Order: sequence, then C-alpha cells, then structure tokens
Amino acid sequence: MKLILLGPPGAGKGTQAKQLVDRFGIPQISTGDILRGAVKEGTPMGVKAKGFMDAGGLVPDEVVVGIVRERLQKQDCANGFILDGFPRTVPQADALKETLGELGKDLDSVVSLEVDAEALVERLTGRRTCKDCGRGFHVKFDPPRESKKCDACGGELIQRDDDKEETIRQRLQVYDDQTSPLVAYYREQGLLKAVDGMLAMDAVQEKILAAVQAP
Ligand code: AP5
Ligand code: MG
Repeated sequence: MKLILLGPPGAGKGTQAKQLVDRFGIPQISTGDILRGAVKEGTPMGVKAKGFMDAGGLVPDEVVVGIVRERLQKQDCANGFILDGFPRTVPQADALKETLGELGKDLDSVVSLEVDAEALVERLTGRRTCKDCGRGFHVKFDPPRESKKCDACGGELIQRDDDKEETIRQRLQVYDDQTSPLVAYYREQGLLKAVDGMLAMDAVQEKILAAVQAP
C-alpha cells in the first residue's frame, strides 16, 4: 500500500500512521520526525531547518524533497509506505510524482483527515511525546498511566517546541495557504479519500481502512 496521510497539524496523521505500520508492516515516512531527528543531532540540515520549524513555517521544498527521494529508495519501502506530512506544497507533490515515476511506482490513495480548527488547537496543546521512543500521548484524549512518563518505555514525556499556541496558529495558517490546495490536486487525480478525523482514534482507523480498501 502506497499511501499519503494528508491533514492539518494535529489531525492525527502520526497517530494513525503508527497503527497502519503495525497492521501492514510498511514504514511511516514522517518528514517532521526526520527533521526533528536532524535538529536533535545538530546536523547541517537540522541547523538549517530549526528556524523554519520554530517559526511554524515550512522547510524549503528542495530540502524535504531530497529527504523523501532518498528514503523512498530504501529496501523497506518495496512493499509500500505511509507518507505523513509530505507532500505539503504543490511543488513537493509534483516532485513526489516524478520520484515515484522513476521508481516505477504509483500512489494508491491519499487520505485527507478532516478536523475542525478548534479541535486541532486542543489536540496540539495537549500533546505529549516520549523523549526516548517517540510515542505520542494526549493529556485528555490518550493520557499516560503515570503522569509525564511513557507507558511503553518509561521515558520522560515532553511537549514539542512548536506546540505553543502562537506557533500552532501560524502552522494552521501555513496549512491553509500552502498545503490545503493539495486536497483539490489529489481529488482531480482521483486519489483523494476524505475521512472524518473528529471521531475517536480507533474509529478513525476503521474509516481509513475502509477508505483505502474501497475500489
Ligand atoms: P510535522 O511533524 O509533520 O507536524 P504537523 O503536520 O504540524 O502535524 P503534527 O505532527 O503536529 O500532527 P499530526 O497530524 O501528526 O497529529 P498527531 O497524530 O500527533 O511537521 C513539523 C514541522 O516540520 C512543520 O511545521 C515544518 O516546519 C516541518 N516540515 C515537516 N514536513 C515538512 C514538509 N513536507 N515540507 C516542509 N516542512 C516540513 O495528533 C495530535 C494529538 O492529538 C496527539 O496528542 C494525539 O494523541 C491526539 N489525537 C490524535 N487523534 C485523535 C483523535 N481522533 N481524537 C482525539 N485526539 C486525537
Ligand atoms: Mg505528526
């Protein structure tokens, strides 16, 4: 299965992608996770990306296109992949099409997770992530058993630097301006499957499965 999860910040792309990884055994390719890893390691790419990310803006297309182009060529993508947070602009989508063409692959579906703006803010301000294993939680919707401690590995739960309310508003604006045109882009290509992302997490997963398995 070759899938894109499209949706605004906080729509549940990461949450749903992780469930799909477990179910189908194909990798999640999250450009946000890859960039945060580079920032943490202090690589030249990370140093360059940090300013854009902290400001709630997009990292330049050529940087993320390069990351994804390289990642898609890895052996673990042979049976499929889940793109989470890429593409985010029309030039990125065009570049993806070109890369997949070179690899002799086609997208199967683009799932658009639809969530109200106010719910997005609540989800992002309440999100907590394990510093060690990266597992996501939510203080209200998916609380850890022990406060500030990861259920899976016991690691410390932290808040993402860009999950401050002011930065969240900026990220939502950037989504509206630069990423939302991809909904029409993929609809025109007959690939778009709209899914109600306001439902509970497991119900959203069921809807995604039904959407991608529909003819
Ligand atoms: P990225 O990491 O991709 O962030 P994002 O798109 O802003 O999305 P999020 O990760 O914040 O949200 P999500 O949809 O994954 O939601 P989640 O499942 O965690 O990008 C970060 C930055 O990197 C960008 O701003 C940009 O600077 C840069 N970047 C990345 N990709 C780029 C690209 N292609 N081009 C240029 N720049 C790029 O869920 C959120 C919370 O809600 C969690 O706490 C979760 O538990 C909870 N939740 C999830 N589902 C539900 C539900 N159904 N009900 C209740 N709560 C729920
Ligand atoms: Mg995410």
